Amino acid sequence: MLNHGYKSKQRSSAHNCRIQVLVMSFILMLMLVILFFIFDNVNDNDGDVKVKVKPSLAYESHKQIWNSFDSLVKFHPTREFRNGTDLIWQIPESPKGVLFLAHGCNGKAINFWDKSIECPNCIGLPEERLLVLHGLAQGFAVITISSANRCWSFGKELLVVKDILEWWIGKRKLEKLPLVALGASSGGYFVSLLASSKKFNSIVLMIAEGMFDEIDINEDYPPTLFVHMPKDLYRQQKIDEYVMVLKDKGIDAGVVECMEFPLSPDTLADRIPGIDQTLSRNLFEIFKEKGFIDEKGYMRKDGRKMKWQNILDERKNLLIDKHLIPHIQEELNLAFSYHEMTSVHSDQIFKWFESHIG
Ligand SMILES: *[C@@H]1O[C@H](CO)[C@@H](O)[C@H](O)[C@H]1NC(C)=O
Repeated sequence: MLNHGYKSKQRSSAHNCRIQVLVMSFILMLMLVILFFIFDNVNDNDGDVKVKVKPSLAYESHKQIWNSFDSLVKFHPTREFRNGTDLIWQIPESPKGVLFLAHGCNGKAINFWDKSIECPNCIGLPEERLLVLHGLAQGFAVITISSANRCWSFGKELLVVKDILEWWIGKRKLEKLPLVALGASSGGYFVSLLASSKKFNSIVLMIAEGMFDEIDINEDYPPTLFVHMPKDLYRQQKIDEYVMVLKDKGIDAGVVECMEFPLSPDTLADRIPGIDQTLSRNLFEIFKEKGFIDEKGYMRKDGRKMKWQNILDERKNLLIDKHLIPHIQEELNLAFSYHEMTSVHSDQIFKWFESHIG
């Protein structure tokens, strides 16, 4: 009995010990897993590493309201003509840098600026205007130039724009300031090429992989941030490839991914000057009714592929200023996130510029 008791006690204490070891190692593993996730997230937030913006996060930062800069900056642009094209620019008080913005196909300088006394035919597309406001608020002198044709061309036009930039920077005595550029789509290809003949401190290529097959990249090539929409798989792959190419040459390269986000009843009113809450909510309800958006508010297709404008003819009581159709179109495309200008990640864009100045 005793023996047995003794033996069984010994066995059970060995058993206890094994359980303790098991529990301890389980806790240890759990802690490791937690640590792994924490560090993974920290890495995710590092501007230099690939930043995966989760849909919910993207939506939060998307909640920038069209007039959120009202207390900081106002549009007072100057419009000029030079070398057969127009340039529109604004310089804030004591600027700390110069930012050149290049539009995509069908774009123009007037898309970046609100209609005003200084620019009566300016259009102020929601994403373009927010990029300019961010730039001005961050202390950048902002210059926009129109392409000669529908899209940018990659021959003489590079010289023309280089000339315009140098002339304007000289005239405004901004030579000492860092120069940065952001180009979207066709403008992204253009900026990627321009950067091999004109010195920029850093560049941002938006929804464009750049033309790195045609550029002889040397160590002077500027740090390059790709802001893109991974739904566009072809571009996503090219960008992965070019990030490697740039890094191999010792050039700093970063990636910001823009994900789709759900529309809310107020999205259009929040983003577009001239659309009030009632109209925004009505449109949202109609989009839902027509199946343009799913039950969670996500766009089912690219805005360009939907005949959403037909509802304007069907519902004559919807009082929409026809001038705002491109603005609505842009926000619908952005929510779908396949190929559109975006100001949603302006914080990361300007962080990139800031961290590569000087
Ligand atoms: C741009 O215009 C200036 C002034 O008219 C001229 O000197 C310059 O050659 C032009 N540049 C190009 C590339 O046409």
